[in-house]
Amino acid sequence: MEKERMEKKRIGVLTGGGDCAGLNSAIKWVIKTALDDRLQRTRKVQYEVIGIRDGWKGLVQPEGDEETPSPRVSTLTEEMVRTWDRYGGTNLGTSRTNPYDPKNNRSKIVLENIERLHLDFLVAIGGEDTLGVAHKLFLEGVKVVGIPKTIDKDLSGTDYTLGFETAVNVITEEIDRLRTTAGSHRRIFMVETMGRHAGWLALEGGESSGAYIILIPECDFEMDKINELVLEGRRKGTRYDIIIAAEGAKPSGYSEISKEEGIDSFGHKMLGGVGEFLAKEISNSTKIETRSIALSHLQRGGAPCAYDRRMGRYFGIAAVDLIVKEDFGKMVSYRNGKITSIPLKEAIARLSLVDIRTQYDIERYNGRRTILGF
Ligand code: F6P
Repeated sequence: MEKERMEKKRIGVLTGGGDCAGLNSAIKWVIKTALDDRLQRTRKVQYEVIGIRDGWKGLVQPEGDEETPSPRVSTLTEEMVRTWDRYGGTNLGTSRTNPYDPKNNRSKIVLENIERLHLDFLVAIGGEDTLGVAHKLFLEGVKVVGIPKTIDKDLSGTDYTLGFETAVNVITEEIDRLRTTAGSHRRIFMVETMGRHAGWLALEGGESSGAYIILIPECDFEMDKINELVLEGRRKGTRYDIIIAAEGAKPSGYSEISKEEGIDSFGHKMLGGVGEFLAKEISNSTKIETRSIALSHLQRGGAPCAYDRRMGRYFGIAAVDLIVKEDFGKMVSYRNGKITSIPLKEAIARLSLVDIRTQYDIERYNGRRTILGF
């Protein structure tokens, strides 16, 4: 009886951009919150949640294509997602499809498909690119909300983005492993992290693992200074060194080092190679054997740490709260210890970068050595 009087609404949920740990937890909690029996009775709305596969590609070609012959949209139930929060990656799949790619604009198709699939609301889980598309769709009338995720932690208006803490744990664990081999051979190890134009992963990964030098995109480095720091350490008796460089870090006067020519459909270059570059420079100048390792996609892989499971849960619940409150065009965020929300426009307006005046030591190329000030 009760259910007959209930309004029926459909929520579509998708994950876009690079995968990371914590996405499955957010998806699970969107579903659990939307389908919660008790809450549905209070809201007088009966939600159905549709999983959209492969990011925005799922709304460009919901029926599938050669690559994915089966439909990219299907109903998700609580039973289906019960265990998802334990697993890494995204069980919905992801892509870097940009419906607003100026060379191939398919935004009209996306809008038509949203209509055709009767999606009343959308939850987009992603970083600046995915949420940039969400914002454009919002301006075209789509009732969309966002959840922040990226191991780069470079979205504005939030102190946390899903996947970051798991990636920092990976960096820390891998460096713990490198230490024993580096120490045995008296070597220098150059460890390259991801992060694109933001230094958060390298900085916080470096602080967690106690790296000797941390190089970030926000502070161009001088080769001579790195060599001097290494030699100074050796003079003091250091047996080995761990140096971290973010993929976007660069020597002053140079541009970022790219692995490949070309850009993706959001206009990004594929960065990488600074670790190898530095290893050669350091060993040539200091004559100390230097090896390099790029942690690459290991940082995005594996099961989410406890923090990402919890944050995925809170973000998923808060995203449904926004839908219930009809507060669209917003991204859930974590600010000053509280879950809150901010306009999508604000989240994507600029990148959140390390402030080298207050969060970095430009003399030592490392984390800061005063926190409360003098
Ligand atoms: O934005 C997340 C990120 O992992 C960046 O740190 C990195 O530069 C990029 O994605 C790598 O992308 P892909 O997985 O497409 O190589």
